[in-house]
Amino acid sequence: MARLNPVFVCASCGGETLKWQGQCPLCGEWNSLAERHAPRGRTGPAAAAVSLVPGAALGGGERLGSGQSELDRVLGGGVVPGSVILLGGDPGIGKSTLLLQVAAHVAAARPVVYASGEESVAQVGLRAARLGLGAEGLGVVAETDCQSILALAAARQAALLIVDSIQTLQSSAMPAGAGAVTQLRECTAELVRFAKQGSAAVIIVGHVTKEGAIAGPKLLEHLVDTVLYFESEAGSRYRIVRATKNRFGAVNELGFFAMTGTGLKEVKNPAAIFLARAPQPAAGSIVTVTRDGGRPLLIELQALVDRMRFGAPRRIAQGLDANRVAMLLAVINRHAGLALQEHDVFVNVVGGIQIAETAWDLPVVLALASSLKDAALPAHLVAFGELGLTGEVRPVPWGDERLREAQAQGFKVALVPRDNAPRKAPSGMVVHAVGTVAEALAAAFTRAPPG
Ligand code: TYD
Ligand code: MG
Repeated sequence: MARLNPVFVCASCGGETLKWQGQCPLCGEWNSLAERHAPRGRTGPAAAAVSLVPGAALGGGERLGSGQSELDRVLGGGVVPGSVILLGGDPGIGKSTLLLQVAAHVAAARPVVYASGEESVAQVGLRAARLGLGAEGLGVVAETDCQSILALAAARQAALLIVDSIQTLQSSAMPAGAGAVTQLRECTAELVRFAKQGSAAVIIVGHVTKEGAIAGPKLLEHLVDTVLYFESEAGSRYRIVRATKNRFGAVNELGFFAMTGTGLKEVKNPAAIFLARAPQPAAGSIVTVTRDGGRPLLIELQALVDRMRFGAPRRIAQGLDANRVAMLLAVINRHAGLALQEHDVFVNVVGGIQIAETAWDLPVVLALASSLKDAALPAHLVAFGELGLTGEVRPVPWGDERLREAQAQGFKVALVPRDNAPRKAPSGMVVHAVGTVAEALAAAFTRAPPG
């Protein structure tokens, strides 16, 4: 047995120090340090290394399909055996529903343990019955003790262990009265150890705090392999799964689901789900094609420009970076003669989605000009392009793909950067290629919409 060396763990931030202090040196919380024993100076047998040569069989096996291709694409092709996935999201968004669907799918072929600390077995059973789910290999347990859950998963040789949720878990390795954060971290570490020692994959549900991070301090995110967030706009039936960390795949993919009366259904072609425009074109509104999230999405942007009443002009942006909007205002002031210094400016991405790419520069400027002039843009117009500080319209990646998707959704006119102009426009579509912001504004507001 290795000798134990005390360390002091902060119940507030989970940080460790070697000596006791009244105040945690990391987060500044008072009286939050509690003693925990860690093994010291172990001189056990040396660890064994495995030579890594191309084609070596290192175990691990194939990825598990979750039964939801939208989830698999976000994960980078399915669940990696031995990996730990943290799924975060607001209460009621559908985390338990999604994971029950995944559990039942995987359980058709491999043993699965679904441990719920929030619902009774009867409640989980009711939901499963409502969704028409069930499989011999799916073991459901209502349990909050981490060690008991791990023992059960080991006994059933589970290929997948689902823990709903990490906030309800307790580790008996921790002294009674250990702070919530310490428990959270210890339980997560035990689940990670379990996954890495065997080949079971573990999916952990984590509640999101008001600040939007999983379980307050980001201390769980670095322990796990993959962090997924389940998001939705209030009142919408659509759900988006986004990876913010993934050791086994890209992080920019989005997965789309719709909540229905019988569980979550994949949305395989989400291009237009955020498009719900008024039948009459309105001033300040424009549609753009974003490719943030791995595939083209048509999104409506809205701008409202209003004469400032008092004080400093306001610049408010929902769903996109307000600093970039401020930069665009300077560009159109200097290079297109649109002065908005004495106006409040509001920009909004409809559907509550966040856009983090520069292709919306041009459509935002067009929406601002449309609101300022109180002149609606043609309903069948779509635009994308980046703006430079000298007023030039710069190309963006995936130009052809964006145009094809817009055409598929029935848009007839596109305003695009000159360097994105296709050799041949998609059939039934007129493509205007522009080189400067002034040209773009002239094209959008002086050309009669083609009939
Ligand atoms: P749930 O999976 O319990 O959310 P979470 O685990 O993230 O807290 O989802 C609960 C919501 O989903 C609840 O408001 C009811 C709704 N729902 C449906 O609309 N259809 C369904 O088939 C199911 C099971 C739930
Ligand atoms: Mg739940």
